[in-house]
Amino acid sequence: MHVGLSRSILWLFCFLTSCQAQTAPEVLLVISCPPYPRQAQDECFTLAGSVREQHRQLNLTGDAVLGDYVVKIHVMPELFNYWTLLDALPHLGSQTRLLSARTEWIIWCQHNTHVASLRDLLQHLRGQDHDEFAYYGHALYDSEATIIHHFWHYKDPRWFPYPMLSAGVVFTGSLFRRLTELVALNAQNNSRPSEFSIDASHELARFIFDNLRPEDDEHCEAALSRKIILKNAAYICPMAIPAESPKSPTGGTPSCALYAKPKEPYGAPMSASTTLGDRKEHCVHTTGSHIYFAIKTCAKFHKERIPIIERTWAADTRHRRYYSDVADDGIPTISTGIPNTQTGHCAKTMAILQLSLKDIGEQSNIRWLMLVDDDTLLSVPRLSALLSCHNHSELVYVGQRYGYRLHAPDGFNYHTGGAGILLSLPLVRLIVDRCSCPSPSAPDDMILGYCLQVLGVPAVPAAGMHQARPQDYARELLQLDTPVSFHKFWGTEPDHTYSRWLGGKLGNRSAPLRADRTDRSAAASSLHLLGRLPVPGGGILPLEAVLESSGKHLDL
Ligand SMILES: *[C@@H]1O[C@H](CO)[C@@H](O)[C@H](O)[C@H]1NC(C)=O
Ligand SMILES: *[C@@H]1O[C@H](CO)[C@@H](O)[C@H](O)[C@H]1NC(C)=O
Ligand SMILES: *[C@@H]1O[C@H](CO)[C@@H](O)[C@H](O)[C@H]1NC(C)=O
Ligand SMILES: *[C@@H]1O[C@H](CO)[C@@H](O)[C@H](O)[C@H]1NC(C)=O
Repeated sequence: MHVGLSRSILWLFCFLTSCQAQTAPEVLLVISCPPYPRQAQDECFTLAGSVREQHRQLNLTGDAVLGDYVVKIHVMPELFNYWTLLDALPHLGSQTRLLSARTEWIIWCQHNTHVASLRDLLQHLRGQDHDEFAYYGHALYDSEATIIHHFWHYKDPRWFPYPMLSAGVVFTGSLFRRLTELVALNAQNNSRPSEFSIDASHELARFIFDNLRPEDDEHCEAALSRKIILKNAAYICPMAIPAESPKSPTGGTPSCALYAKPKEPYGAPMSASTTLGDRKEHCVHTTGSHIYFAIKTCAKFHKERIPIIERTWAADTRHRRYYSDVADDGIPTISTGIPNTQTGHCAKTMAILQLSLKDIGEQSNIRWLMLVDDDTLLSVPRLSALLSCHNHSELVYVGQRYGYRLHAPDGFNYHTGGAGILLSLPLVRLIVDRCSCPSPSAPDDMILGYCLQVLGVPAVPAAGMHQARPQDYARELLQLDTPVSFHKFWGTEPDHTYSRWLGGKLGNRSAPLRADRTDRSAAASSLHLLGRLPVPGGGILPLEAVLESSGKHLDL
């Protein structure tokens, strides 16, 4: 018999039978890594390097905890839809060989996850059953039903745990493989509770809860009717435990093998000893005076909402304009000439971008445009710090990222409008040139995201920007990333939100708006343009999907 052939047969036999059991168990550490901003990508490679080094040390010292574990580390580029985790699963399963029958544990990290001790982590894993359908993390809970979680379990939302993704999530191989199969199957018939991806972590927990049962797991026959919920793991922490913190009741110091690292304030001075020193080179000093705030309002909210903005964040701005359906000289507001619609606002937003460009004209100190609602609260200094490390000469689109139909080929990311949408001026010009509204009341933020995806401009997410109110987010998340914006006033005290969460001091009614007459007549004279918003090539975008969605759009 041919030697090579017999060897393959032997190998095949071996593979199918006993040898499989003898091969070393694997732990797969995946770092989900966004391509932008550059700082986040640096963090991914720092994390991978740190784990590799810890692994090398364990191996060198012959540490018993490492045993025969093979630890694989994979930095996964976060393609446009990878941030949701669920949509990344099919890629991990089939297209790469990372996941195998031997993978006992999958540790899912983000760029801002810190692996404080690989040794402790492996030790904890040894004490857990990798055959069980289970996943572990730092459990977050809602304090009330929230729109960002689709008002799920509105009667009692407080019992349902979902993982803090930035702290790291540990899956058993059994659960992860099953989940991967299921997501791949479902991708074909497109079944999801919602077409929207808003909070990847809650949506993951919900998907597992809805679609998996312990009985799929042959080792768990007793628990037929149970569902699978996240298990809280004390070794996965929402933040580093300070060294001086009290000892745990059992005597040992609480040990966080994994925790979420707060974001470096990119605009703040950074210590030379860290790799962050390099990043500073790319940053430029930015203040509120470099940002043009285009605030969307309408007649019925002039009296109610504009005074709130004026006594809160307006004081930190130099260039702000209120764009409305009605010109009101007392404020003043600028009329877009577009009648108000209940939802959507696409035509109005496109008009605002055109009018703003005209208004900005040759004022070269303005680098950014921020589109906000009249019920958005901001910290202008924090926003400036955030922007300082983005390059305003390039096409930059920053905000709170949501996704629509990310499991499907026509899916896209977009920045949700209420949190505020940041655009570099070159990008505003591109949008005015190339994007158009399929209908006046189409959802403006989604159309913008869709158009920019077609144009190849990525939606860069900014931690700290929020489409909803502080009470809509788990406390740990608000503590991790310094808030930059919130949206919606109902059930809140806007002044309190501003001073408590955005670090703001309430001002007197700030300096009157300096919108001089010439500016506004220029704006008025440009209104004739609005009848012919550019529709390049008779409309560049097949927008059926977005249009269909406009009825379902969460206009929060
Ligand atoms: C671990 O140590 C063994 C023997 O000392 C060596 O062959 C192996 O390459 C090491 N593995 C890693 C990942 O360093
Ligand atoms: C989608 O397809 C999978 C596999 O065929 C099936 O198990 C699942 O029930 C389907 N979902 C819907 C909503 O049809
Ligand atoms: C910003 O982008 C422009 C154009 O691509 C480039 O010339 C410039 O060097 C960049 N600035 C920084 C600070 O990276
Ligand atoms: C508000 O204005 C009054 C009168 O101009 C002044 O005395 C007071 O200090 C101001 N308050 C704040 C918080 O700036």
